[in-house]
Amino acid sequence: MRSFMGRDILSLKDFEREEFFRVFQVAKDLEPIARDRRNSELLKAKTMVTAFYQPSTRTRLAHEAAMHRLGGHVTGFADAKMTRAGDFYQESIKDTVKMLEFYGDVIVMRHFQQGAPHEAAKWASIPVINGGDGWGEHPTQILTDLYTVFSEKGRIDGLKWVAVGDMRMRTMHSLAYALTQFDCPITFVSPPEMGLTAEFKAELQQYSLNFTEADHVEKAIAAADVILVEPVVQPDYTKSRDERRGDVGLTPANYKITRELLAGKAKSDAILLHSLPRMDEIPPDVDITRWSRYWQEAFNGVVMRMALLALVLGAVE
Ligand code: CP
Repeated sequence: MRSFMGRDILSLKDFEREEFFRVFQVAKDLEPIARDRRNSELLKAKTMVTAFYQPSTRTRLAHEAAMHRLGGHVTGFADAKMTRAGDFYQESIKDTVKMLEFYGDVIVMRHFQQGAPHEAAKWASIPVINGGDGWGEHPTQILTDLYTVFSEKGRIDGLKWVAVGDMRMRTMHSLAYALTQFDCPITFVSPPEMGLTAEFKAELQQYSLNFTEADHVEKAIAAADVILVEPVVQPDYTKSRDERRGDVGLTPANYKITRELLAGKAKSDAILLHSLPRMDEIPPDVDITRWSRYWQEAFNGVVMRMALLALVLGAVE
């Protein structure tokens, strides 16, 4: 297996099967620190730089919390408008990361341009972690989700998935790439205008992903062990900010997970994931059902970032 030390985490297309299990193992080892709300000293000599060009609640703060739990330091920006990248100068990614690499030991970047973290990694002498790039990928979120499934079910292979939402979403791309490494059939349920592109489908076929598509979650949910949901009422992920203006509409029943649907059609032991934020696709009354795991997923978001930071910074091999 390749070493994680010094490695960029840009895409799950880069991940080999055994590397997933190595990351899960490190997460499991470090999980007690987060569960006990302790801070350790594993990364006490290291600093993480966050470079967030798009809004975030979970990804930035989970990375920061992870760094604190490991005794490390944190600096960075959450609003590029307050940096030279976001004002008159429109400073390039190259010029920005050629500064940031001297301010810390790892960079976590979220950007509205697909491929921006890859461009950063080209120039930075320290590891770059992709915290979500436009419609591109969101590898740390899907590693979190897979770790949640692994923790809950004790395995990944043999589980059937249904993914509901906008297939342009970066999480969906990382999920599809990740599942190519496992025996996991998946059905994608999305509005036609938000479906998998022909190009992406051809790529998934090349990787032998066992996938189908459906137009209504009711047609696919009964077989699913894992139900992963994203909104179809979405902002434009290619913008640095997309302010809500007026009525944004409601989620059609085809892409909505209700208590009634779960009780009537889902497997009794299926688990429901949502990386959040949500609109109305999962109503709040689903939170208190045996299917929901999104708060567990939120906790695991810290644990997974602890594992990734410890690995790329060489604190564990
Ligand atoms: N799931 C996720 O990426 O959330 P944030 O946009 O709040 O980081």
